[in-house]
Amino acid sequence: MAELTDSTSRSGRIEPAEAPNCDSLDVALLRKDFPLLGIEVHGHPICYLDSASSSQRPIAVLDAMRNYEETTHANVHRGVYAIAEEATARFETARMKIGAFIGAPNPGREIVFTKNATEAINLVAGTWGRANLGEGDVVVLTEMEHHANIVPWHMLASERRFTIRWIPIDDRGELILDDLDRLLEGAKLVGVTCMSNVLGTLNPVAEISSAAHGAGALVIADGAQSVPHQVTDVVALGVDFMAFSAHKMLGPTGVGVLWGREAILEELPPFLGGGEMILDVRKDGFTPNDIPWRFEAGTPPITEAIGMGAAVDYLTAVGMDRVRAHEISLSSAALALFEERFGDDLRIFGPREPSARGGVISFAYRDIHPHDISQVLDEYGICVRAGHHCAKPLMRRLGVSATARASFALYNDGSDLVRLADALEHAGAFFG
Ligand code: ALA
Repeated sequence: MAELTDSTSRSGRIEPAEAPNCDSLDVALLRKDFPLLGIEVHGHPICYLDSASSSQRPIAVLDAMRNYEETTHANVHRGVYAIAEEATARFETARMKIGAFIGAPNPGREIVFTKNATEAINLVAGTWGRANLGEGDVVVLTEMEHHANIVPWHMLASERRFTIRWIPIDDRGELILDDLDRLLEGAKLVGVTCMSNVLGTLNPVAEISSAAHGAGALVIADGAQSVPHQVTDVVALGVDFMAFSAHKMLGPTGVGVLWGREAILEELPPFLGGGEMILDVRKDGFTPNDIPWRFEAGTPPITEAIGMGAAVDYLTAVGMDRVRAHEISLSSAALALFEERFGDDLRIFGPREPSARGGVISFAYRDIHPHDISQVLDEYGICVRAGHHCAKPLMRRLGVSATARASFALYNDGSDLVRLADALEHAGAFFG
């Protein structure tokens, strides 16, 4: 390991130097709600900068799940005894809260619980896509989609023989929409991420939806990165489907959501077959259930859905406008700090304007491999993600095989940025 610099104590612990002011939230207070943020890693307090991959959970979420497990658990929509009815009520209440959180006009019919955002997109491909796409049709995706909004369409295209067209990005990491009308000719569906998990770019989804509808196409938005970090209004965005996951928004793994317009969901065939999704089953066939249960075959993730509802309560209590303002100020401070400390040695991917991006900063530091960077940072208790971030077409467009990525949530502050910059300096010294 390289010689210790001033900001590193003899114990090897990095002491926060002068931290930029990102005071829009009382982060010190919020952090107390997150037990995991109290642990040490390799003798350092954890510095968690990987919330775009999966965020940490507050006690309120853990308590809601534990309370349900300890006092109420039974299967939903089946039993006619007290705890089964209470379990159903808590599960359906979570659906209503989550719907309200994204501005769904009729949450009780439009919020479908899935395993995660990926399964939500696969549900649309497997139902709407299989029923509506065929030879000669076009699906338009962007170059910055996560694999979750690419591979299901590749899989279906190999079966249904439709064409996939791509909205390109410019060197700032923003979509080039000049040619959108031509790309949309003959399109039946547009898939767009609200926020790139690599570049942080916030896309003009409402504008794209309006153009897509003008061309007769539906829009599926990947909200996995945006829903946890800003106010979401599916009606204002004008999309037809929106997919997102609980575990990136302070909730548990194992549950996600597909929101769809009621009139469209009503017309869709079931996705998976089994219990729950039927009204009747006979030897000669079955009658599917009403929406949204038609798409929820088998016992759903009850505890996890209740945890997701509690996460929505927590975020709502903090206020999504404040979460967004805090993350803009963190991104702004991070961009300035990196520029000041590393100059041209550190390449940042994505828009330079903090308000045009969410709280993820992907970077290349000199020619050090992102995995090496991540390993050195880990020695200092700092968690960042390194890799292709499930966005290989984007990696190819950027001309890299991987990036390192720091991503923020409401529990990060300027001291995390300073620790990251200090540890990066050590990585630079270590690799020479
Ligand atoms: N999609 C998640 C990420 O960007 C896993 O890290």
